[in-house]
Amino acid sequence: MLGYVNEMTLLALEVSMPQQVAQILLIDDEQESCKALSLLLGRAGYRVNSCHSGEKALALLKKQSFELIISDLFLPGVSGIDILKQVKEDSPQTCVILITGNASAETAVEAMKEGAFDYITKPFHFERLKLQVAKALEKSQLVIENQYLRQQLHRRYKFDNIVGTSQAMQQVFTRIEKVINTDSTILILGASGTGKELVAKAIHFNSPRSNKPFIAINCGAIPADLLESELFGHVKGAFTSAVSDKPGKFEAANGGTIFLDEIGNMPLQLQMKLLRVLQEHEFERVGSSRKIILNIRLLSATNADLEEQVKAGRFREDLYYRLNVIPIVLPPLKERRGDIELLARFFLNKICKEMHRPLMTLDQESLQAMEAYDWPGNVREMENVIERTVALTDGETITCNDLPPDIGKANREIITASPQLSSTGIDMNQALADIERQMIQQALTLGSGIKARAADLLRINRTTLVEKMKRLDMRL
Ligand SMILES: Nc1ncnc2c1ncn2[C@@H]1O[C@H](COP(=O)(O)OP(=O)(O)OP(=O)(O)O)[C@@H](O)[C@H]1O
Ligand SMILES: [Mg+2]
Repeated sequence: MLGYVNEMTLLALEVSMPQQVAQILLIDDEQESCKALSLLLGRAGYRVNSCHSGEKALALLKKQSFELIISDLFLPGVSGIDILKQVKEDSPQTCVILITGNASAETAVEAMKEGAFDYITKPFHFERLKLQVAKALEKSQLVIENQYLRQQLHRRYKFDNIVGTSQAMQQVFTRIEKVINTDSTILILGASGTGKELVAKAIHFNSPRSNKPFIAINCGAIPADLLESELFGHVKGAFTSAVSDKPGKFEAANGGTIFLDEIGNMPLQLQMKLLRVLQEHEFERVGSSRKIILNIRLLSATNADLEEQVKAGRFREDLYYRLNVIPIVLPPLKERRGDIELLARFFLNKICKEMHRPLMTLDQESLQAMEAYDWPGNVREMENVIERTVALTDGETITCNDLPPDIGKANREIITASPQLSSTGIDMNQALADIERQMIQQALTLGSGIKARAADLLRINRTTLVEKMKRLDMRL
């Protein structure tokens, strides 16, 4: 299940590479031998295109990609080596096998130096070529799979993995977009489980540093006396247990992004060193005086009130300003209830896929209950609740009874909140108007102020909602 599977396993589950017949491009100016080879390769199960000149091959390569190219080395005009060079520039994962009638050691060496997969001398047995073709295709498939996996990893942290249409989340997206192409220091603020780490990864994986490391370190999880060496590394003998030189996380992240989580827990004396690193872009390992130059982007996050900590003298004011160049604030989920339904469906979809079960649905009441609940553990709590509910529910529809009792109860409280009739009686029209007003107000809050969404929640159409709001003297 989610919590027990590492990221690469999840990726492996998600990856289902389309398996297709390999496309081979055959280039030979001798039409007869080209035809014969093309036939043999076709019988061996490959799709083959043929060209009789280097020029035509280059033109075709501009329009179409191939997994493997088999080319005669000596062609009139554009030679096999020219094609090899062009292919390696345009699509390095494509393998090239060169064939020639007059073998010379130099051309063979040149071909291999330019990145040919193999070099075969005529005459040759087709079986020998077939073997090399299979090996070359296996290699190019591996390269492609590798690229695919890397793209998938990046896509996981593209914006479409951050769900939210509420105004608060739209502001977060706008801000992320503004900062991705800069090296600005960003402080991500928000309660536990609101998505701080997700935002940090989105910034890194959408930034020009995305191919360099993203290293996250939780300042709260490492004992204060070890944190300095963890971050900055040490040299042998710097302290009793320093038996050899060891680089720290800052060095490991060089060129990329470092994410200091729970920055509020950083000890004061280390805050000083961090400030210097940010100002001077250099530091020394513990126990060494050799300066190491850094090129790093720093992101940090906290769920603590850093301003309060500054006032209390537990956090350096100068460092606070340095870290907080651009703040990104993630509000608690209960302040963006309009996102709850979207998030619930997103997690349901994701978790059903991970558990290899057909997509389940949430009935209207269970959705209302989730929208009414306060989610003290924010988005993480919702993800966990949905994971548990999917695992424990047999049917295809999730109802209030399948949800943890606290959440199921949230809905019933709203539904049963009705006025009590006393012996003095009640103005029924007034009481009903009050209930209507409250319901509309709640629906508008849940629907992030969008009337169509509020009308859906109340199962009336939008025009009726607007008429009722006019009649009840509510602000439109
Ligand atoms: N807007 C969102 N859309 C989709 N998933 C989200 C969203 N926000 C958070 N999550 C998911 O919720 C979980 C918690 O998010 P994350 O770890 O980023 O929170 P956090 O703020 O760093 O929490 P903590 O303070 O406890 O470390 C993660 O699995 C994350 O993918
Ligand atoms: Mg976190």
